[in-house]
Amino acid sequence: MRYLAFIAVLTFAVFACGGETPSENGASKKTTPKKKKKKVDGEKVYKQYCVTCHGVYGDMGASGAFNLTESKLTLDEKIEVITNGRNTMTPFKGLLSEAKIKAVAEYTEKLKK
Ligand code: HEC
Repeated sequence: MRYLAFIAVLTFAVFACGGETPSENGASKKTTPKKKKKKVDGEKVYKQYCVTCHGVYGDMGASGAFNLTESKLTLDEKIEVITNGRNTMTPFKGLLSEAKIKAVAEYTEKLKK
């Protein structure tokens, strides 16, 4: 009898595992949109914080802002300028997260002609 009970438990365990598969699929579907939200849109950040001085195309130059289409800085140097500011340019350290600063720096690379 004990042996039979053991088999019954095993069968039940296998059955229970098999039954979980569809709910696992459902869970992975739910996590997909979360990942999309995490990605920072550099263009959105730029249009919100940088357009006032640099202009939509990066070449407006308001209040002596540097022409970003002609910038010769590397991505790391841009991140540095955006984070800590330079002369009249405001530092964005307290305003934007590191991820946003990186995303917007990458976006300014695209403004180059
Ligand atoms: C208050 C106006 C202002 C705002 C807002 C502003 N900038 Fe600037 N930016 C400047 C000025 C002025 C300079 C030139 C600094 C100097 O003369 O050293 C500059 C320089 C830069 C440089 C260096 C370019 C180079 O080649 O030397 C980068 C990169 C840059 N800005 C990116 C950004 C980004 C990205 C944002 C938005 C997150 C932004 N700026 C917002 C005024 C601004």
